[in-house]
Amino acid sequence: MRAALLHHVRRLADEELPAYVYDLPGLRAHARAIRAALPRRVRLLYAAKANSDPRLLRALAEHVDGFEVASGGEIRHLRGLFADAPIAFGGPGKTAAELAQALDAGVARLHIESEHELRTLTTVLGERTADVLLRVNVPVAVRSVALAMGGGPSPFGLDPAQLDRCLRIIATDGRIRLRGLHAHLASGLDAHAQLALVEQVMGWADRWAHRRGITLSEVDVGGGMGVDYADPGDVFDWPAFGAGLRRTLERHPGLTLWIEPGRSVTAYCGWYVTQVLDVKFSRGEAFAVLRGGTHHLRTPAAKQHDQPFEIVPDDSWHQAWDRPEARDEPVTLVGQLCTPKDVLARHTMVARLRVGDRIAFAMAGAYAWNISHHEFLMHPHPTFHHVDDAETSVVDRHGTCVGRTV
Ligand SMILES: Cc1ncc(COP(=O)(O)O)c(C=O)c1O
Repeated sequence: MRAALLHHVRRLADEELPAYVYDLPGLRAHARAIRAALPRRVRLLYAAKANSDPRLLRALAEHVDGFEVASGGEIRHLRGLFADAPIAFGGPGKTAAELAQALDAGVARLHIESEHELRTLTTVLGERTADVLLRVNVPVAVRSVALAMGGGPSPFGLDPAQLDRCLRIIATDGRIRLRGLHAHLASGLDAHAQLALVEQVMGWADRWAHRRGITLSEVDVGGGMGVDYADPGDVFDWPAFGAGLRRTLERHPGLTLWIEPGRSVTAYCGWYVTQVLDVKFSRGEAFAVLRGGTHHLRTPAAKQHDQPFEIVPDDSWHQAWDRPEARDEPVTLVGQLCTPKDVLARHTMVARLRVGDRIAFAMAGAYAWNISHHEFLMHPHPTFHHVDDAETSVVDRHGTCVGRTV
């Protein structure tokens, strides 16, 4: 953890815990490095579903070419923050109302998931025009990954066999422009595997378009750039990915490639900070019960991993009895929920962990608070802190900014 963040974590009052602490300079530097690694012919969208915290989105805005959204709610949220930022609307099950909302909001690109969705679009277009990409479940082998969304039977995107029917609808409706194909097939790939997938997708798209005598100006290969929760230092190799894309694009002149990563952009900038409430032993195993839990940070439950963490020792102890602790042994970190699924990290070796110590869970900046079941058991929500170079803003449990420290 950066010194400025650690300083902030130490200064948090017990009543402010659990807390989400976001590292805005770290996020900007990371996004800048991603952008710098990518060739100019690659457009970078941030998938807002990973974390749509307004301050994070503002920090990212100058480093990305726009945002990918997957609901009417996300469109409203993004438009409320940025009047003009390019937005691409993807995701399954778009309603007619959402499609109309997207057109009203000037959403520049629609990623069409099915023939029915395309037909629905024609009913809400009116006098307007729309740029679309057809999302395809491209028939490529998707190596065993954390989350596969294509390559086999899937509710996502169009089966290749259905593409021609969509082409006919587009050909007879002058309001719809086909810009290209979209294929988000998997999440959790390293740079090498992601590059291999991109090459397969682009090769397939090229052959498909060539056979139909059409020219695609764009291919969007989605997100899914992997992060390694077991090794936070093993970051997706953006320079190698960028260099590989440069070589791939040389074989596809005239084509613009779009990518829309989420997790790999914001995972590292967020920390979920909490406190040990109890340390207990059951049949020889140590458990630390933490304030909060997976209703605030569902990521380890959703992905079935151990969330990496740092211990921030707190030496104050004012009780008359011995401070419960675990020493030089594996500890399972659990939350306050009445379910055995409320586990944040299992059997993790600690040198010393005591009641009152703070735990800062790393990699809590993506698919963390926003995918968690906040209301279960009605525990208080965390507080939110955005640490910036010059100041830290503090947002209370109700989302109101309650302070700044400079
Ligand atoms: C269509 C689409 N694009 C982009 C993303 C972002 O993926 P990731 O956060 O793994 O980069 C997702 C995630 O589900 C997605 O479904």
